[in-house]
Amino acid sequence: PEERTLVLIKPDAVRRGLVGEIISRFERKGLRIEVMDVRTMDAALADEHYAEHVDKPFYPPLKTFMTGGPLVALVLAGDQVIDVVRNLVGATDGRRAAAGTIRGDFSLSNRENLAHASDSVDSAKREIALWFPELA
Ligand code: CMP
Repeated sequence: PEERTLVLIKPDAVRRGLVGEIISRFERKGLRIEVMDVRTMDAALADEHYAEHVDKPFYPPLKTFMTGGPLVALVLAGDQVIDVVRNLVGATDGRRAAAGTIRGDFSLSNRENLAHASDSVDSAKREIALWFPELA
């Protein structure tokens, strides 16, 4: 089915000049960009976006990283886009992510892993409403 997903091209990707490379992979796959914006996450948005992780030990450094510079937020649309994008992004830990995925090709970290993508229909709805309320 036709779906939407929220992608964040994280501050490490912006800093490293990988935004074009990452967006290009989504475009070549045939996905549609519905909206895209350069934003800087503030503390409140980080806590809401990562609500399921706020109590985890890795959250404080994750929050520092995610609020530490501009990122690119976008909504992608297409057939089964949630799974399709998670496959393009790869496993969380860049050291273990498969070659050919964004993380597998460009990240050596399980925190600075270049991109976030919604993991289910429910989280996509929640995250799109948080970042782009005009689309909800
Ligand atoms: P993301 O897909 O944005 O969802 C949660 C983020 O937390 C994840 O990508 C990583 O950036 C980070 N993360 C998840 N697990 C760990 C971990 N064990 N150590 C450090 N960071 C993590």
